[in-house]
Amino acid sequence: MKRISRRTAITGGFGAAALTLAACGNRTVPTEAGTFTPAPTLTPKAGQNVVTQTLTAAPAKVDLGGKTVSTWAYGESLPGPLIRATAGDLLRITLENRLPDASTIHWHGIRLHNAADGVPGMTQDPVEPDTSFTYEFVAPDPGTYFFHSHVGLQLDRGLYAPLIIDDPDEPGDYDAEWIVTLDDWIDGTGQTPDDVLAGLTGAGASDGGGMDHGDMPMGEGSSDGMDHGEMPMGDEPWGDAGDVAYPHFLINGRIPEAPEIFEAKPGQRVRLRLINASADTIFALALGDHVLSVTHSDGFPVEPVNAKAVYLGMGERYDVIVTVKDGMFPLVARPVGKPDGGQGLAVLKTGAGDVPAPDIQVRELDGEILIGSTLEPAEAARLEDRTVDTELELALQGSMEPYQWAINGAPFGQNTPLSIREGQRVRIIATNQTMMSHPLHVHGHTFALPSGLRKDTVMMAPMESFALDFDADNPGRWAAHCHNAYHQEVGMMTGIDYAS
Ligand code: C2O
Ligand code: CU
Repeated sequence: MKRISRRTAITGGFGAAALTLAACGNRTVPTEAGTFTPAPTLTPKAGQNVVTQTLTAAPAKVDLGGKTVSTWAYGESLPGPLIRATAGDLLRITLENRLPDASTIHWHGIRLHNAADGVPGMTQDPVEPDTSFTYEFVAPDPGTYFFHSHVGLQLDRGLYAPLIIDDPDEPGDYDAEWIVTLDDWIDGTGQTPDDVLAGLTGAGASDGGGMDHGDMPMGEGSSDGMDHGEMPMGDEPWGDAGDVAYPHFLINGRIPEAPEIFEAKPGQRVRLRLINASADTIFALALGDHVLSVTHSDGFPVEPVNAKAVYLGMGERYDVIVTVKDGMFPLVARPVGKPDGGQGLAVLKTGAGDVPAPDIQVRELDGEILIGSTLEPAEAARLEDRTVDTELELALQGSMEPYQWAINGAPFGQNTPLSIREGQRVRIIATNQTMMSHPLHVHGHTFALPSGLRKDTVMMAPMESFALDFDADNPGRWAAHCHNAYHQEVGMMTGIDYAS
């Protein structure tokens, strides 16, 4: 029987022709070496602080907490080394590539100049093995960010780390800070992410860890190959949430059997900087017995909201403040729509108690879970009121069988970049035309949702659409893509181009 994915695109121009065209598998678009002129060296202004760091990307054995895996990482542990600067600082970060493959670094969410954005073939040549590249940029906006490789599926190995930009005018109304980075992990457990993708695309013999999660035989009398919604749709509100079955979920590089233990004192206000660095997993996160006061989304301040639990899509960040109680409390990151179970765990320790069991359940995850796009911006984070000069469509499309994801009718490399002009107020009408959820990420800008909420990565539920507004004040060739690394790798990406 012919099997039709229930995630088949049900509207839009991404039809059979485009699917055939794309069946070759559109990997990271190759570039010819020497296409890009090296970025100019930035000279610090008088009094400007310079943050200098070297990151060496290399094969490594990493201990996840009693379980050691071979992977590619920036050092011996996960996440890679924290980079921390103050808004306005000049960052000068050198990537030494000791990998057997080319690499780059993307500074996710930072409104930097285009030449430092780290997208191979778009903003720079890939950094070849045994060569190095220095990224120099000013980080203008405080907040919680992260950085990661932008080549192939390297993000789903260990090539990621937090990037914190402190606020020179920080009100600092908290006593302690806990940076919490979430990840889904398969590398070195018998498969690499590339094996996983080969399984998903059918290019390899391996079944690649792909999940059999409900691609349904087509029903009698359903002749259009479309799913009309009578079949189970996965976890609300995200429908099908992920494609890959991961053996481990990590918080700060640790499996739940050996969780990180963060110590604070009862009554303290702790700022958690939450980062979802995973490739294919949306998490629902909660701290047992506590309420989270959500203060920032993707680095920008929001009107604080109390929540028992929050969703984090891939590439999203939230900052929350917690007034901590006395005892031992599990911080649980439950993967959404991953039927094989497992979860991420870390522990807050403010007093006596036992370390929670790896599969501890917290009741905060049973109730309402905050969807970040419903937050309201803090006044200071709003864009100035302006009329929109240009409106462009960005449609997320694709299917599981064949495994092909696209934007505006074709995969990256075959679709047409959105074209805008410097100085415009731009509105992108983003539409998810699939039955799967996708975190849409735009480089170099932090757009505003209709509420005014500023985001650089927005979770889009099946068939959901958003108007994304931003000012074209940072010319260059910018990537816009789904932050599911597998979707991006097969083509769910486009460009936003403008010259100065
Ligand atoms: Cu974190 Cu182009 O992405
Ligand atoms: Cu996607």
